[in-house]
Formats: sequence, C-alpha cells, structure tokens
Amino acid sequence: MPAPAPRAGYRASQKVLHWLTVLAVSAQLVVGYNLDLDDGCDPPGEDRSGGDTSDAEEERLDRLEDACEARADSYDLLGGGFDLAEVHLLLGLAVLSLGVVRPLWRRVAGLPPWSEHLSAGQRRLATRTEHALMALLVVVPLTGIVLVATAVDAWVPLHVGAHIAFFVALAAHLCTNLRPAVLRRML
Ligand code: HEM
Ligand code: HEM
Repeated sequence: MPAPAPRAGYRASQKVLHWLTVLAVSAQLVVGYNLDLDDGCDPPGEDRSGGDTSDAEEERLDRLEDACEARADSYDLLGGGFDLAEVHLLLGLAVLSLGVVRPLWRRVAGLPPWSEHLSAGQRRLATRTEHALMALLVVVPLTGIVLVATAVDAWVPLHVGAHIAFFVALAAHLCTNLRPAVLRRML
C-alpha cells in the first residue's frame, strides 16, 4: 500500500485553537489594562513585619492590609457580584488551558511541511518564537495566579514582565508570519 501523502496544511482543529487563543489573549490584554490597579496595596519600601509602631502607623498598616484583602476578594468567584477582576481570572484560566492543550495537540496532529516562503533563518526564528509563545501562554497566567494567591505586590513586576516578554515573542512571530502566503496557511 502506498504511504499517505504528506499533509499540505494545518488541520481545522489547529486553526480553531490558534485563533481562539488570539481572541482570548487579546480580550485578556484589554481587561488587564482596564483593571483598577490603584488599590494602595503594599506600596514598595514599606515594612509590614510589625515591630514597634505608633497607633497612627498601626492604623495605616491595617488599612493597607484591608486593601490587599479587598484585592484578593475581588478574585473570589464564589463571592457575590462579578467584576472585571473575575473576568481577568476566568480568561486567564482559559488561556492557561489553551496553553496546555495546544502543545499536546501539536504533538498528536503534527505540523505541515514548512512554507517555501520562509528561509532557513526565518524557520529557525519561527520555531523558537512558537516555543516561546506556547511557554508564555502558561507562564503569564501562572504569574497572575501567584500574584493573587499570595496577595504580595512584589509579584506585579513578574506578571507585567511576563506579558511584555509575550509581546516580544509575538512581534517576532508576526515578522515571520504576517505575509499573505504564510498567513493563508492558518486561515
Ligand atoms: C493570558 C493571561 C494574562 C494576561 C495576558 C494578563 C495581562 C495583564 C495586564 C496587561 C495587566 C495590567 C498590567 C499593567 O497595567 O501594567 C494585568 C494585571 C493584573 N493581572 Fe493579569 N494577565 C493574565 C492572567 C492573569 C491571571 C490568571 C491572574 C490571576 C487572577 C491575573 C492577575 C492580575 C492582577 C492581580 C493584576 C493587577 C496587578 C496590580 O495590582 O498591580 N492575571 N494582567
Ligand atoms: C496569542 C497570540 C499568538 C500565539 C500564542 C500564536 C502561536 C502560534 C503557534 C504556536 C503556531 C504554530 C502552529 C501551532 O502549533 O498551532 C502559530 C502559527 C501561525 N501563526 Fe500564530 N500565534 C499568535 C498570534 C498570531 C497572529 C496575530 C497572527 C497573524 C495575524 C498569527 C499567524 C500565524 C500563522 C500564519 C501561523 C502558521 C505559520 C506556518 O506557516 O507554519 N499568529 N502561531
């Protein structure tokens, strides 16, 4: 029996997963940039370890603690109401799931042969940026979850840094893929 002909393009399931991810991440960025970040929680340089403090200082530290708890509460899906923070959490969990499913499905479904429009160097760059993007689909939500779970502002730079790294990988991804002949392969 003759060997099956090599697949010419991406499977429909791979295309659906790809554009679903783009949609979820885009929505997540819009929500992320519209979160109310000015909650006064844990400003840098404050000693919150206790020790000798005046009444006024203690009262101020209590207020800071309340602000941190309020932020953690706003991510509580079981509490009453539904706000932007909870949308951010749910979308983050959706992106995390896609980040786990995509590489697994990629192993099962395989990849089509390279586009002839990409040089050897561009193919190397494309491979690296695809791996970076897939890793960041897991890392970005995880840094957000750690930030909320620990309620410590020191994690904010990590979460912000992770999504900026995502922008860098995405820019490289677009450099290789945003041209009609290549884009058509994912449509
Ligand atoms: C694909 C996943 C995610 C993306 C792209 C994303 C993106 C963002 C962006 C753009 C911001 C605004 C940062 C700024 O204004 O500089 C933000 C803030 C934030 N995100 Fe996410 N996020 C993701 C997942 C999550 C998850 C799963 C959580 C956990 C609940 C989370 C928790 C937070 C929190 C608490 C802030 C506010 C940080 C602060 O208080 O300063 N994020 N995120
Ligand atoms: C959330 C943002 C994105 C992520 C995480 C992402 C990730 C990926 C990954 C992992 C692949 C390899 C195929 C696979 O494993 O399914 C891929 C392929 C591709 N992506 Fe994206 N992508 C994103 C955004 C975009 C955007 C905005 C465009 C164009 C407007 C685009 C165009 C393409 C094309 C054309 C291919 C096929 C390349 C080829 O011919 O092999 N991607 N993408």
